[in-house]
Amino acid sequence: MAVLVTGGTGFIGSHTCIELLNAGEEIVVADNFSNSKPEVLNRLKKITGKDIPFKKVDLCDEAETEKLFKEYKIDEVIHFAGYKAVGESVAEPLMYYENNLGSTFNIIKMMKKYGCKRIVFSSSATVYGIPETVPIKEDFPISAINPYGRTKLFIEEILRDLCVSDADFSVVLLRYFNPIGAHESGLIGEDPKGIPNNLMPYICKVAAGKLPILSVYGNDYPTRDGSGVRDYIHVVDLAKGHVCALDYMRKNKGAKAINLGTGNGYSVFELVRAYEKASGITVPFKVTERRPGDAAECYADPSLAKELLGWSAEYGVDRMCEDVARWQKMNPDGYGD
Ligand code: WQD
Repeated sequence: MAVLVTGGTGFIGSHTCIELLNAGEEIVVADNFSNSKPEVLNRLKKITGKDIPFKKVDLCDEAETEKLFKEYKIDEVIHFAGYKAVGESVAEPLMYYENNLGSTFNIIKMMKKYGCKRIVFSSSATVYGIPETVPIKEDFPISAINPYGRTKLFIEEILRDLCVSDADFSVVLLRYFNPIGAHESGLIGEDPKGIPNNLMPYICKVAAGKLPILSVYGNDYPTRDGSGVRDYIHVVDLAKGHVCALDYMRKNKGAKAINLGTGNGYSVFELVRAYEKASGITVPFKVTERRPGDAAECYADPSLAKELLGWSAEYGVDRMCEDVARWQKMNPDGYGD
């Protein structure tokens, strides 16, 4: 009776493994290390004291994926595995469709073949495109503005169609807002390959002297200080939301999309100041042009998660920055080579 965590050595996946184990769940992790490192498994053991069953798997290979379901009795899947860089998806759309959709097709095929009827999917607020208003509710119009976002949208629709075709399936589509932070131990955290696309890891690299300066993508937005506003959510809060989603699926059939956000928006300048306070390091920045496709404001109405999952975010942006500053200080080169 295990929960299969695909992409379980990634940033959100690894934090979710800890919360699943803390909740007494039995887990199996599958990953191909395309955006993570084997060292994560050592860190998870240090934190939890447990050897987590792990398989290095290319989920785009049907036979390899089937081996997982043959070897383990899998009752639920939490599906994180997938490419997630917006810019890269624009340059390499076919690679994104092949990988993100192909791996999901194999997972679903094997779930059906081996009688596994519950899946939590790692979706994203990116499916809302540029929202007309905020806060964002789950019934807002969905659209995608890049191939990465379209893979999330397509997989949501595929899983909805699956539930229409088979009423025994339970699907929770968790729409993440902006996950940042790190486990309080400082042993696991976000370790993006190359130059970070996202704000928090970029701030960390500048503060650590590994990048010279932060570019603030526009200060002329209609927001309280002109910079972009986002719903930053502690990755541990996000992880706990997945444990609640498991419980929900065990009591409810059908497909449900649920926002995982705090409901609070913070601007770029506010996040920079919060990190400076937490780390004691000044972060040099310059204001540049807006980044194409960016919304002025994007933050969640988290009331449905509270109603259906009994979940709400606990940590504020100061704690997020304290935890990520500790991770950065303890791991200046991330998980290393
Ligand atoms: C946040 C804010 C930028 C970098 C993306 C994906 C989304 C999800 C989360 C996966 C914006 C500004 C950023 C920088 C900046 N990922 N910024 N300088 O764009 O809200 O969401 O990551 O699911 O799908 O779209 O996050 O961290 O890139 O940007 O000024 O160097 O920081 O303009 O206002 P975003 P982000």
